[in-house]
Amino acid sequence: MSDYILDNEPLSPGVIYRLLSGSVCPRPIAWVATQDQQGNTNLAPFSFFNVASVNPPILAFSPLLDGSAEPKDTLRNLREVAECVIHIGSESLIEELNTTSASLPRGEDEFLLAGLKKAEMPGVSVPRIANAPVAFGCTLRDLISFGDQPLAGTLVLAEVIAIHMDDAIWDGRHVDMDALKPVGRLAGSDYIRISDRFVLERPA
Ligand SMILES: Cc1cc2nc3c(=O)[nH]c(=O)nc-3n(C[C@H](O)[C@H](O)[C@H](O)COP(=O)(O)O)c2cc1C
Repeated sequence: MSDYILDNEPLSPGVIYRLLSGSVCPRPIAWVATQDQQGNTNLAPFSFFNVASVNPPILAFSPLLDGSAEPKDTLRNLREVAECVIHIGSESLIEELNTTSASLPRGEDEFLLAGLKKAEMPGVSVPRIANAPVAFGCTLRDLISFGDQPLAGTLVLAEVIAIHMDDAIWDGRHVDMDALKPVGRLAGSDYIRISDRFVLERPA
């Protein structure tokens, strides 16, 4: 058995990363498009991601500072252009999603690297991925930074101001899971599909 009181027995950020990302599983994946001041677009996946509020609709994700305590392009861009488009990582584009997690020099476009076409997203200047079935156009509501050390997160709170849903997955009332096929991230390079589901009725 292992019990850690972190004040007495500090664990390295690398160990805490493995402990958290291996335990808080499976995680949905935000596939986030942003843009810098010059209009260069950027795309990257973030699995530290969830819904923070419904009314108003707010999504939250967290880019960590890298191992040299440098911010990722997504965060730099949000500080320049306070908008993003959040897509949901799903089976149909999972190879492309993985491709866009490469660390490219700032200003290089992961849309091009992954061979993804852009489409206009109403309400924001950032484009969406043309063939992604779900896209949320967001304006930046808040950035909450947890420090300047390597792997420090910055919680991005993004307010949804426009929604794109493909007719194949949305009938106006329900999202069709079997059409969307969202993918979850586990630890390291492991992912999970939604093909093994079960139903549990909530108590009255
Ligand atoms: C499925 C997946 C999920 C990821 N989730 C996160 C995350 O939540 N936070 C983070 O800082 N990096 C995460 N990464 C790594 C970033 O995607 C990667 O550092 C990327 O290069 C950042 O791109 P950017 O510099 O263009 O913003 C993830 C990578 C993958 C493949």
